[in-house]
Parts: sequence; structure tokens; C-alpha cells
Amino acid sequence: MQAAPIAIEERILLTGATGFLGGAVTAQLLAEGHGANLSFLVRADTRDQGLERLRDNLRQHGVGECALQFLHAEQIICGDFLDTAWLPRETPRLMQIERVINCAAVASFSKNPSIWPVNVEGTFAFAEVMSRSKRLKRFLHVGTAMCCGPQQASPISESWSFPDGAEQLVDYTASKAEIERRMSVELPGLPLVVARPSIVVGHRTLGCQASGSIFWVFRMGFALESFTCGLDEQIDVIPVDYCAEALIGLALKPQLRHNLYHVSAGHHAACSFAEIDEAFASANGASPVGARYRKIGVDDLKELAGDFAARIGPANPRLVLRALRLYSGFADLNYLFDNSRLLEEGIALPPRFIDYLDVCVRSSSGVSIATQMQWDFK
Ligand SMILES: NC(=O)c1ccc[n+]([C@@H]2O[C@H](COP(=O)([O-])OP(=O)(O)OC[C@H]3O[C@@H](n4cnc5c(N)ncnc54)[C@H](OP(=O)(O)O)[C@@H]3O)[C@@H](O)[C@H]2O)c1
Repeated sequence: MQAAPIAIEERILLTGATGFLGGAVTAQLLAEGHGANLSFLVRADTRDQGLERLRDNLRQHGVGECALQFLHAEQIICGDFLDTAWLPRETPRLMQIERVINCAAVASFSKNPSIWPVNVEGTFAFAEVMSRSKRLKRFLHVGTAMCCGPQQASPISESWSFPDGAEQLVDYTASKAEIERRMSVELPGLPLVVARPSIVVGHRTLGCQASGSIFWVFRMGFALESFTCGLDEQIDVIPVDYCAEALIGLALKPQLRHNLYHVSAGHHAACSFAEIDEAFASANGASPVGARYRKIGVDDLKELAGDFAARIGPANPRLVLRALRLYSGFADLNYLFDNSRLLEEGIALPPRFIDYLDVCVRSSSGVSIATQMQWDFK
């Protein structure tokens, strides 16, 4: 998709730009020449510290020093969704914003006590202030496709109905569903558009350099030659740079047909685990696991623990087992997320995971599986 035609003076506020998706969105906006129009909400004590945190992350996203030096401290708004006492102080600056891309969240499957206060309470407080703006044209909130909960029939279409919180697999997805519900119901003045990415893994040219999130699950499954999904089942994975392009398209396009979009591989670009096995083996110069692969039940995962050290290297077996159990819950859903709404907006077709998986493998060499796993257990 071409750089969206927005008026040159429009100010765009990014939250979560020190993270994986927000970093990729920022890198893309800088490449498209929007740098001077950007503001960033960053957790930091001072604007200078916030700017340094932002620059450190953007280096991981391949942004060159020249573009980094172009950013300046006045573009930083210091703020934390955990304690929103800063909101009244910064409200005048927030009222200058035309478009928000809200990527900030605690994106963790752990039992992190900050999940609800940040993802629901703090996000709502921020959105409530923004809903009072006369200037705001769009509040693009980044949700997650998995907030639909388990027991849905795949392919999944976008829907504003949510399962009961108790049915959600983890607190994170429950919180992401609740904030969408609250913003859509309680903030009628907010020009809300929700984008729900599916599973974001790696980057087409940088691989796992900026984040090893979820890639370690594939490494672990092939190293153990066992997991809870079948090789013939499919998984909906997109790279972060594609996700960023789609989010920018949805944030900047003057008119949209809907207020809720999947950002996903969908039917055409999803890959089967057998295809992923072959691409992974080819990138490693090895043979696919193929017939040696065993589909096992979640209760059988513990029987693999004796092999952890030999197959995946040094790791805390208790943590590995917990991680495998949590991720098996999502992998077993076997969900494809319909992306026809996104494509109808003129956003490019998503690439397939197997087409850039070799880049993820190369960028992960020298990084242990256990180290890479830490991305998802903050
Ligand atoms: N990664 C995926 O596969 C995926 C899939 C679907 C949806 N999503 C959604 O995409 C969004 C971004 O996820 P991500 O993978 O990029 O996560 P991430 O790498 O962990 O980044 C999270 C960002 O949120 C910021 N943040 C966390 N707590 C905050 C707080 N209390 N106040 C203000 N900012 C805070 C972080 O800032 P600090 O640097 O200060 O911690 C960081 O910039 C999330 O909404 C997530 O639900 C991600």
C-alpha cells in the first residue's frame, strides 16, 4: 500500500513505540517521511531518557542513526498507563493530536499483576481523555485476534461480541477483550478503530533481531519433535513489518468501511506445520522432522521434560513446561482469522511465514531457545 495521503501537518501519537509492534510502526512511519509529525508516549522520568529508550528500540528495528538523530526530546510525552496521574498535565499536548496508534500494553501470557491495570484501566483513562478531543480523527487501538476466546468456529470473522472473561485462556486476552468492549460502549465520542493482529512472528528482513517473541515455540517443537498440534494443521502468522504497514494504512486512510479489522495471514497465507517444518529444516541445513514428529496431548508434555536439556539446551524445566502448556492452548485452537476486510481497504496481501522463516532462523543463531522464550514472559 502507498503512503497514506494525510495532510502534512497532522500529528500522530504512538504509544508502545519502545516495543515490538510499536517499534516496527515507528520505523515504517519514519521511512515514509512522517518523522516530524510524530509524538511518542514513553515510560520515562524525563523526555531525554524517553528519547534514548525510543532510539535504542528503533536501532533494533533497523532505523539508521541519521533518522534517529532527527527525532528530538520535544516529541516525547512521558507517561505510564499504570499510573495516569500525568494525564491532566499532558492533556493540552494530547489535544493537538489528530491520529493515535495505540500499541502500548502488557503483552504477556504470564500472571502479571499489571495486565488489568495497564491494559484496561490505564488504557481506558487515556482513551477517555482522547475522546474529549475536537481534533482527533482516529484512535487506532491495537487489540489481538485471540480476544475472540476459544471454542469459535474457524475461520473467524471480526465481531464485537466477546466470550465471558472466565472462558479466556489467559488474563492477557481477557484484558484485551474488556478494553475493546469498554471503549466501544462507554466512549461514543472516540473515533475508535480496532485492529486485531493474529500471531506476529519476526520481520521479513530483520528476522528476530527486534524480538524473538513466539519464534522460540517453533524452535522448541521441532527440537522436541513433539507438540500438541498436528503437522497438517495451519497457523495464522504474520511478520511485524507487514503488521506495521497494515496498522499505518488503517490509521491514516481518510475513510474506512469498518471499525474493526483483523490483521492476519487469513486463508491464503496461513501455513501448515508441515510446511513450517520443511522451511525450518531447510534453513538449518537439516532434514524435516516429518515422520518422527509426534502429536501429543497437553497432559503428555511433562513426559518430554527429561529430554529438555539434551534437545533445547540449558533451561528451567518448570518454566519450559509452563510455556509449552500455555502456548499449546493457542496453537491447538487451529484458528485462521479472516482478513478480507483488510484487503478490501487496499492493504497488500500478507506474506507467508515460510517465505521469511530462514531470516528468523539466521537472526536467532547464537540465541538459546530459553533466552528467546524470555520475550514472552515479562
Ligand atoms: N506480538 C504479537 O504477536 C501480538 C499479536 C497480536 C496483538 N498484539 C498487540 O500488539 C500490541 C503491542 O504488542 P507487542 O508485541 O509490541 O508488545 P511489547 O513488545 O511488549 O511492547 C509493549 C509496549 O507497550 C508499552 N507499555 C507496557 N506497559 C506500559 C505502561 N504501563 N504504560 C505505557 N506503555 C506501556 C511498552 O513500553 P516499555 O518499553 O516501557 O515496557 C512497550 O512499548 C499489544 O497491544 C498486543 O496486545 C501483539
